Amino acid sequence: MLEVREVSKHFGGLMALRKLSLHLERAEGVWGLIGPNGSGKTTLLNVICGLYRPDQGTVLFQGRRIDQLSPHQIARLGIGRTFQVAKVFRRLTVLENMLVPGFTNRETESPRQLREQALELLDFMQLSNLKDEQAGNLSGGQQKLLDFARVLMLKPKLLLLDEPFAGVHPLLKERMINRITLLHQQGIRFLVVSHDLPSVLELCSHLVVLSSGEKIAEGEPEMVRKEERVVEAYLGV
Ligand SMILES: Nc1ncnc2c1ncn2[C@@H]1O[C@H](COP(=O)(O)OP(=O)(O)O)[C@@H](O)[C@H]1O
Ligand SMILES: [Mg+2]
Repeated sequence: MLEVREVSKHFGGLMALRKLSLHLERAEGVWGLIGPNGSGKTTLLNVICGLYRPDQGTVLFQGRRIDQLSPHQIARLGIGRTFQVAKVFRRLTVLENMLVPGFTNRETESPRQLREQALELLDFMQLSNLKDEQAGNLSGGQQKLLDFARVLMLKPKLLLLDEPFAGVHPLLKERMINRITLLHQQGIRFLVVSHDLPSVLELCSHLVVLSSGEKIAEGEPEMVRKEERVVEAYLGV
């Protein structure tokens, strides 16, 4: 599904990613990417979705090289992402926000179909009652749900979620975890970046741990949790 091969990325003298490799298989469960602040998690998502070019290394999606493509080309291939701080169009209504990615599918779907899909997804996220509200008036957690609902309009095959639980009310968090699990059962693949360990342990069946741009552990959550280097990275020696 997704292969990251020895990817490096630096900003000036700072190595944000050091020869990082990942191999995400379609058959596996939800993937989690964890690590302390500044360990390179968001940088990796930015490299995968084409916002940053890696200095070295390659990225393959379904066997095809994507690291030289632009973000919109990568989105069209089926990789969607959400942002650590939800990026909604604040002056548009919730429903209008949902229709923006619909422009990508304009050739294949009618405005009516797109509207129906948007309403269905809002219902799925329990945001229907807010559909005519300006998105800027939503709470931070609701904006994250909208960001998530909106990227689903692209019908992605793989979704990269950046800190989906950060600043989200515990009830909304639970809802988010349920939605991700359901969508995973429907065939969408997920790479979830988070430093919310309890949520990640509940949701993910495979974890990768980053520290200072390097992969320091990988495997089943229970195994990873016991790794000495992981404990050190989080708690200090
Ligand atoms: N655009 C950028 N310019 C300069 N430094 C950056 C940029 N993006 C990230 N960094 C740096 O790279 C490191 C990794 O950042 P990031 O990937 O955001 O970490 P994480 O998401 O794990 O908290 C940090 O030291 C951060 O300051
Ligand atoms: Mg980050």
